Amino acid sequence: MKVLVTGGAGYIGSHTTLCLLQEGHEVVVLDNLVNSDPESLERVQRLTGREVDVRVGDLLDEHTVDAVLGEGGFDSVIHFAGLKAVGESVEMPLRYYRNNVVGTLNLLAGMEKHGVRTLVFSSSATVYGANDNVPLNEKCELDATNPYGRTKEQIEDILSDLGAADPRWRIALLRYFNPVGAHESGLIGEDPQGTPNNLLPFVAQVAVGRRPVVKVFGNDYPTPDGTGIRDYIHVMDLAAGHLAALAYLGSAKGVFRWNLGTGRGSSVLEVIAAFSEAAGSAIPYEFAPRRPGDAAISYADPSSALGDLGWSAERNLAQMCADHWRWQKANPHGYKIPDPT
Ligand code: NAD
Ligand code: WQD
Repeated sequence: MKVLVTGGAGYIGSHTTLCLLQEGHEVVVLDNLVNSDPESLERVQRLTGREVDVRVGDLLDEHTVDAVLGEGGFDSVIHFAGLKAVGESVEMPLRYYRNNVVGTLNLLAGMEKHGVRTLVFSSSATVYGANDNVPLNEKCELDATNPYGRTKEQIEDILSDLGAADPRWRIALLRYFNPVGAHESGLIGEDPQGTPNNLLPFVAQVAVGRRPVVKVFGNDYPTPDGTGIRDYIHVMDLAAGHLAALAYLGSAKGVFRWNLGTGRGSSVLEVIAAFSEAAGSAIPYEFAPRRPGDAAISYADPSSALGDLGWSAERNLAQMCADHWRWQKANPHGYKIPDPT
């Protein structure tokens, strides 16, 4: 298959591109590099011995999207491109709605025009909001609590309406839980710009000495150790979920929703302990107030993905931390070479 991967230079996109290439697919990446470094795809090429056709361009530029899709031959699109920082989305809602929603509309217009009607979309467990009624299944009510999450909900609505209007579309809405880890080579991984918003990259930067201490947001939640519980999923398992979804869409038309999670929850303190074990030294942490908007507990019911796709996550928290650490240790400043001054 020839697959257009939007946002393919990013964290999840680069790992999925690697898996697509390893499965023999042809990949064209469209990414404006707003939150990524093209070195990720250089390394994917090194790891696979195959070429990635990278186009630096913005989904907000409809002519670019039209030109890439107009080259022809595409069987499907995996749409990762988007902005994803929850706090930033509260401060700059218009930037988020424009980038994520308008960017998707441009993509869909290009797909429609050029007859490409198979799409895998990066949705998020964030669409469930602060729903503590775990495990969360795909029928749970959607109630995103911030602009970022609402862009995902709105895009899901747009795609559902599109599928209802035109039965030729094949659309997978993949609701990721908490992606972490890295390819086992340690050559590619998550490279957040500025202060990491998410727990794992923050813990990893403390472990590598870039930050002094992990702040644990709340120790008075109604959970066994008082800290928040999440469903962390290895990025390579997540990448495999995309290939499984693409395969499913090969023989099914319509709009499908699948949670991609492990079905198991880990607390913040369990994550810190597992990462300390992987890194071979105790990671310092201190308790801090709760972060506004955080749910106490969130984990997936992943049984639909297992039943429909035959997919389930294989890697446990220890492997997630070991792989994340291998990447962070070998690349303490991510893809950037630090300025020696
Ligand atoms: P990322 O920021 O590493 O990757 C996103 C990529 O999209 C980046 O390379 C960025 O440069 C590109 N991009 C953004 N806007 C663009 C535009 N207008 N035109 C072209 N390229 C653009 O993020 P990620 O963690 O790999 O996430 C991928 C997708 O999965 C995102 O849509 C995100 O919302 C979603 N998601 C991520 C998580 C997570 O915790 N990482 C969880 C659930 C869902
Ligand atoms: C996990 C746990 C925090 C940082 C977010 C987005 C969601 C999705 C995944 C994109 C929570 C605690 C965190 C820290 C901490 N992204 N924590 N100290 O909040 O489940 O989900 O990422 O779609 O939309 O909201 O993930 O990694 O931020 O937090 O104690 O420095 O770690 O309170 O309990 P979250 P997270």
